[in-house]
Amino acid sequence: MFDALFKRGKSTMNPVKIGLLGLGTVGGGTATVLERNAEEISRRAGRDIQVDFAATLDLQQAKKLGLDSLRLTEDAFDVVNDPDIDIVVELIGGYSPAKELVMQAIDNGKHVVTANKALIAMHGNEIFAKAQEKGVIVAFEAAVAGGIPIIKAVREGLSANRIEWIAGIINGTGNFILTEMREKGRAFDDVLAEAQELGYAEADPTFDVEGIDAAHKLTILSSLAFGVPLQFSKTFTEGITKITPEDVEYAAELGYAIKHLGITRQTEKGIEQRVHPTMIPKSRLIANVNGVMNAVLVKGDAVGATLYYGAGAGDEPTASSVVADIVDIVRAMTSDPNNRVPHLAFQPDQLAETPILDVDEITTAYYLRICALDQPGVLAEITTIMGNSNISIEAFIQKEPAEGADQVDIILLTQRVKEGDMNQALSRIEALPVTCGSATKIRVESLA
Ligand code: HSE
Repeated sequence: MFDALFKRGKSTMNPVKIGLLGLGTVGGGTATVLERNAEEISRRAGRDIQVDFAATLDLQQAKKLGLDSLRLTEDAFDVVNDPDIDIVVELIGGYSPAKELVMQAIDNGKHVVTANKALIAMHGNEIFAKAQEKGVIVAFEAAVAGGIPIIKAVREGLSANRIEWIAGIINGTGNFILTEMREKGRAFDDVLAEAQELGYAEADPTFDVEGIDAAHKLTILSSLAFGVPLQFSKTFTEGITKITPEDVEYAAELGYAIKHLGITRQTEKGIEQRVHPTMIPKSRLIANVNGVMNAVLVKGDAVGATLYYGAGAGDEPTASSVVADIVDIVRAMTSDPNNRVPHLAFQPDQLAETPILDVDEITTAYYLRICALDQPGVLAEITTIMGNSNISIEAFIQKEPAEGADQVDIILLTQRVKEGDMNQALSRIEALPVTCGSATKIRVESLA
């Protein structure tokens, strides 16, 4: 009785042929997931999906993955130029030759799936323009927050909303380091070495710890949220290398956790687009996202705050996004190219010229750790400068000097102020004869 129903979705069409560029962590995960879940995936997509050709420089790796019966090549351009391939899946990473390969694939009329955040953040405008011209799709769900379908959520699920802001933990390695430092008091370098061993870190781990990887991802989220072209060079980026165990401890005393956040916010003057260590109240759900996990908070005017959580890296979590993109493409292959979901959420001719604000123009609250001589009047000098700059102090801690020491740490929490004004006040404080060296400044967000 249900025969017709069961047969529906079983395609009689030829399988869609995939060309994989790269058989590393994500490439291997993609092949495994496509194979293991082939039947369910085909029931969803309406067509069978077959990995037909793969490029890898490591033929032994292909053997290890059981993929040595695939057509294999060491030259990725062989895959991109193969007339049988419908969808090219770029999992090589980096700017070049990934860009040349993707542009060539588009020129050849192939759809593209990529997990390459650096490529999209840096060259996405050019890539999407060419894809538009050629009527093909370039899908990049895996480029941001690994397995979390955040691009689909922002681009489609929240399309009714005026997005107000997004704040996310979008680098697993950095979050792992901060978590281990806070929970186990471990040293920075020691935790980074472990993240590298576990395969979370980028090929160049400075991309993780200096915030470049998160800045790539935030640039993409910002464009999707506010309908502006991708502008990676305007993303303010500060890493986590200067966070000390003392700051982690003082933050906890004040009721905060330090997280490496990507934040983008629409203001009256323009868009804030920034990645930096951020103190957030411990009571927020996102403050309790630990280890390599990622989480993204999106605030829309209609829906309110929404939170997306999951694995931001790893073979199968990232493959989950890659394969979902493949399924989306298969479903949309025969649709009118002019009526597809736009690459950057807004129609290409509707992108706005809203400026991305310089970091001096952003407004936030601050945690300051100022080293000063332990003598009368010091605090008055510091607070006078703050007062003259119209900066209100929200909380204050002064630590006992260490035995025999004549210097103390003064910790201040300020109310929200323009970064430029804060920097001016801080320069004056640092120039006082009673303070020692540069102050530590960490931005504080309530994420309310
Ligand atoms: N190095 C990245 C991270 C991998 O640690 O989050 C996923 O983009």
